[in-house]
Amino acid sequence: MDGNFRLLGLLTLGLLLFLSPLDVAAASAGRERLSLNAGWKFSRFTSNPDQLSYSTLKAWMLPAANDFVIRGKQQQRPSGTPPGNNVNYVQASFSDSAWESVNLPHDWAIKGPFNAPGVSGGMGRLPSNGVGWYRRKLTLDDADVKAKSLFLDVDGAMSYAAVWLNGNLVGGWPFGYASFRLDLTPYAKAGENILAIRLDNAVENSRWYPGAGIYRNIWLVKVDPVHVRQYGTWITTPTISAQSATANLAVTVENKGTASKEVSIVTRIYALDAAGQRSPDAVATFPTAKATIAAAGFQTVNTSATIPNPQLWGPPPAQKPNMYVAVTAISASDTESPLDTYETPFGIRSIAYDPDKGLLINNQKVYAQGTCNHHDLGSLGSAFNTRAAQRQLEMLKEMGTNALRTSHNPPAPELLAMADSMGFIVMDEIFDCWANRKTTNDFHLIFADWHEADLRSFVRRDRNHPSVVVWSYGNEIPDQGSAAGATTAQELEDILKSEDPTRLGTTGMNSASAGSAFASVMDIISLNYQGEGIGPSASSAAPSFKKSHPNKMIWSSESASTLSSRGTYIFPVSSALSTTVGGATAGGNNSALYVSAYDLYAPSWGSSPDKVFSQQDRNGFIAGEFVWTGFDYLGEPTPYDKSRSSYFGIIDLAGFKKDRFYLYQSRWRPDLKMAHILPHWTWPDRVGQVTPVHVFTSGDEAELFVNGKSAGRKKKAQYTYRLRWDDVVYAPGEVRVVAYKGGVEWATDSKKTAGEAAGLKVTVDRATIRGDGSDLAFVTVAVVDKDGEVVPRAANAVTIGVVGKGEDLGEVVSTDNGDPTDMTVFQSRTRKAFNGLALAVIRASGEGKKGEVVVEATAQGLKGGNVSILLA
Ligand code: GAL
Repeated sequence: MDGNFRLLGLLTLGLLLFLSPLDVAAASAGRERLSLNAGWKFSRFTSNPDQLSYSTLKAWMLPAANDFVIRGKQQQRPSGTPPGNNVNYVQASFSDSAWESVNLPHDWAIKGPFNAPGVSGGMGRLPSNGVGWYRRKLTLDDADVKAKSLFLDVDGAMSYAAVWLNGNLVGGWPFGYASFRLDLTPYAKAGENILAIRLDNAVENSRWYPGAGIYRNIWLVKVDPVHVRQYGTWITTPTISAQSATANLAVTVENKGTASKEVSIVTRIYALDAAGQRSPDAVATFPTAKATIAAAGFQTVNTSATIPNPQLWGPPPAQKPNMYVAVTAISASDTESPLDTYETPFGIRSIAYDPDKGLLINNQKVYAQGTCNHHDLGSLGSAFNTRAAQRQLEMLKEMGTNALRTSHNPPAPELLAMADSMGFIVMDEIFDCWANRKTTNDFHLIFADWHEADLRSFVRRDRNHPSVVVWSYGNEIPDQGSAAGATTAQELEDILKSEDPTRLGTTGMNSASAGSAFASVMDIISLNYQGEGIGPSASSAAPSFKKSHPNKMIWSSESASTLSSRGTYIFPVSSALSTTVGGATAGGNNSALYVSAYDLYAPSWGSSPDKVFSQQDRNGFIAGEFVWTGFDYLGEPTPYDKSRSSYFGIIDLAGFKKDRFYLYQSRWRPDLKMAHILPHWTWPDRVGQVTPVHVFTSGDEAELFVNGKSAGRKKKAQYTYRLRWDDVVYAPGEVRVVAYKGGVEWATDSKKTAGEAAGLKVTVDRATIRGDGSDLAFVTVAVVDKDGEVVPRAANAVTIGVVGKGEDLGEVVSTDNGDPTDMTVFQSRTRKAFNGLALAVIRASGEGKKGEVVVEATAQGLKGGNVSILLA
């Protein structure tokens, strides 16, 4: 032990005398995890600036996977000078002053412009392709370099990340959705270090907008060479009763040092409250374990503890998402402070997959009311932002969602932490293809070399989350029909089971038949579109799967795929419940590129929500559904490839609810008193014309009034989910509905004819946000008439800015309107309203900002509006 280190030890020991074990744990003695998000320089190159490629870097990247390779071959780092060590950008001497200054998470493509050369509509038309270099200085203490292991933890970088420290290639990881760790220790020096990261995105590497750059958080972990290995704890709760729960804990301790080390391992469990605060005292302590960890080795130690009066984790409203945290301390002796302290949040819950009842959590049935979602956050792109993701989850909750499918790749770690604390169940998914491609440059190129490591690290990363109830190792895999596909599926299943025997695995199947070898590998039958029948007249394939797989749980891993543009209604309206979108008579405006929001239209393989519900209800064994999708997303603009973003969302890209939000809410929150009328009632061009009125309600019956006159009282028939008055003739004024449940008045809604646009109404989702440059306020600007009624087809250009005294405290990050055809860059402060609405995303213009900011919206010829936000 050198002098500095001994002093540190004594100081820490002194401190310890005054601290409870809890405080020691809170201080994470022995381990520091520091954000490296700030202070990067960045440059994007559309042609390769350095002659490097995956094929030259691969042999140096593969060793990073070794901790996750058991079936495959351990890879040695090649000898000789690694590729890229001579590239300018990795040298301290290189001047990056002309490069852009960025903070992470960063998505280089989101600033546009749209229609980037070579990028398809499917990929969102934004410049995600090219090579991107990131550089940053890293200052390290002598003590850190001498005595610590130094790890770079990257939560996600798109893609083919290769990392150099001080001109030495450290390693890399190609899969852009993977979280990965690289050991910087051999290349680190005291003082200033240069960290350089190269990313490489080919065109046609995705079926949707992948984003680009270091788009998730990135960390420096400093820890004693003897420490809890990456994802090195695993807690299961195999027996649970009202009085107690058994918790089994596996801790893997790794020794990166040159001498073997004897350690003791102590883990205490604390309860967490809804705000994530720990209980003052531990609720249980695992017996102290002793182990001798060989130099350059690792060892897993298993212990077991009893938790009294366990507070179970389960999804609301019937259950509560109670959480615990296990705090593991690794110590060399009883007297010194721990070498490492490691926290594992977890929940106590049982899970069963019943072929007839569906998912049982703590023996209670949980019907999956789920949505699929991609990882982008609308106008913020793929750069992860906790508040933006939380806002999405809050809206999904409001709709009655209890389930998420992370289509089709691992999410940001923070998303699962939120799913835990908010009580969502998660179908955690990793791959969209295996060895056979969906697009030219997708994951199939690296499947052979990386699938084992990617799958094992994914499961180890996520398996302590109680929210994760099912692993999905594929979506609509092209090999569903082949024997080879079934063999690969079995291999992936086996890998999953060896990492986590407590959960079941599956893939979303759109074409595998009930009798296929592929389907027989699946633990759970997850049907994409087959659940309600592919095509408007087809019925559910679930009964045939039920017959072939009577002992497996069956659910719809992808349902609906309803298409619509928020607030756009196209006439005539289909009389069917699900219609393949086409021209004007089938819900599509093929020239303006909009789809009618009557929520009756879908692509040839998809369905409206009504059809899905009826097929689910006719087949009561189906354990639930995951709608494609909760939110519109960038890319995949079916049916109009010229657009920038999807039409599939229940909520549009800006976060404005489409009508079917209320259709789902009526089914998923049956106790919420609600009714919702569509369309809007401002049709100067339709006076005297038939303008169907549809109502979504959690009631069972409703009466519609047009300008005070009853248009009839209707009851929901079996297997119908909307009430429709298809022959209403439009006259300006008001349509009003009164809904009933069991004959008793339940809820009302009305739509009034709006006058000319007169002003702007500005509102914000939260009046107070943190002034840290990361927290966000979502500001809605509505174009209104003189009475404050939203003008439903208004398209005024609105300019949004932070004004007045707090002008320099806040900034507009992006604007949007949910219009899939709008190619104005997201950073523009001027945005045309789309069907009356526009959005601005606001944040503090840096860290430590406090005070009031005023967000003002103006538009030519209209009275402007504003809203204040407090930065705290
Ligand atoms: C599915 C696919 C999704 C998305 C969707 C659109 O087949 O799994 O990723 O493409 O279709 O309807």
